[in-house]
Order: sequence, then structure tokens, then C-alpha cells
Amino acid sequence: MKIFIDTANLNEIRKAKALGLVDGVTTNPTLLAKEGETAETLIRKISKEVKGPVNVEVTGITCEEIVKEAKVLATWGDEIVIKIPINQEGLKAVRILATEGIQTNVTLLFSASQAILAAKAGATYICPFIGRLDDISFNGLELIQQIREIYDNYDEIETRIIVASVRNPIHVIEAARMGAEIVTIPPAILDQMAKHPLTDRGIAQFLEDAKKIGVKK
Ligand code: E4P
Repeated sequence: MKIFIDTANLNEIRKAKALGLVDGVTTNPTLLAKEGETAETLIRKISKEVKGPVNVEVTGITCEEIVKEAKVLATWGDEIVIKIPINQEGLKAVRILATEGIQTNVTLLFSASQAILAAKAGATYICPFIGRLDDISFNGLELIQQIREIYDNYDEIETRIIVASVRNPIHVIEAARMGAEIVTIPPAILDQMAKHPLTDRGIAQFLEDAKKIGVKK
């Protein structure tokens, strides 16, 4: 399973990279707006830092606007993936960009029917938002299960699932059990994933005992 980091914060990206945990980056306008730099400057910096896909979202509404914008965004780095919200204009744009060899990520995806259409349009990736579904009392992980099952039924589907809107380590564990190719994880959740109270307690105990045998002062 690949791990993308769900942030536009360069320090967080560098921190996760040092742990070998950045196979790619996902951003969106909300994440970029927190950083106080223009989108272009920041995405160019992130792209230099990361070896792997850097996902940047379009803000165009019509197919024509989206395609035009995507072509500009694609020049901001070596491996830019264009995030496109799913609706009919977005799907048309995905199809055009796919034929031109520009990688796309169909985002704000909340149903299996949308996942079918995104794959048919030729999306490189899809981003089902599981946390936002949980927030409104739908089971986000169940959506991943459905999409996995559907995609596995058809050899011709090459679209990869990026599990997004991750809110806790259980989301990551369950997504991995279901065979999601990629999970995009906010930095705070990556921190939580590394922690366990029994690990902390065990380290403290071993250090204490190490002093008794002259290994540690
Ligand atoms: C990722 O590509 C999405 O933009 C992100 O995971 C959304 O997460 P949120 O629902 O926590 O805003």
C-alpha cells in the first residue's frame, strides 16, 4: 500500500519524508489556503521535495475551463496529478485529459456509481472521501469495500483508489485490509499510527532496568 500525505505544509511533508512515508502528496484549495503562499509557488516547492505524484485541484467549472487550467497546473512539477471534482463537466474533462496523457484524480467522490463513471472516463485515480461520509452517518469504509469489489470485477479498469478524508488510524488499517492501493493520510494521523501506550511504557521500563545493569546512567 502506498501512503500519500494529505497536506500542503512543507515542514510536515519533510518530516514524513524523513520517515520514508511519502509516496505522494494530496492537496486541495482548503489545505493550500492554510499555508499563506500562492498555490503555484507552494506546489512547485512541494514537487521539488517529493518523488511521486503531487495532486493539485482545479477550480474551473466547465469542461473547457477545467482542461485549460489542468494544462497549466500540469507544468508546475514533474508528476502533477490533476484533481477534478466529479460531475458531468468534470468527467468530460477527465476523458479529454486522459487522451492527452495528463493524469487525473476524480475527487469529492461519495458513491460507487460515481466511481464506476470515473473509471469509465479514464481517471488515473479516484478519491473517495470516507471521513466526510462518516460525518453524515454513512459508513465510509463500506464505500471502499464496494468500489474495490466493483473494480476487481473488471480487468480493464486501471483506476487506482486513493482513500481520502481519513480521520483515524482505524480508517487506514481497514482500507489496507480491503486492498486500497493508496491511502492519503493527514500528518496528525500518521503521528497517531506510530504511537502505542504499551510501547511508551515498555521503553520507560527498559530504560529504568538498563540503569540497574550499568548500560544506562
Ligand atoms: C484529499 O485529497 C482530500 O482533499 C482530503 O482527504 C479531504 O479531507 P477532509 O475531509 O478531512 O477535508
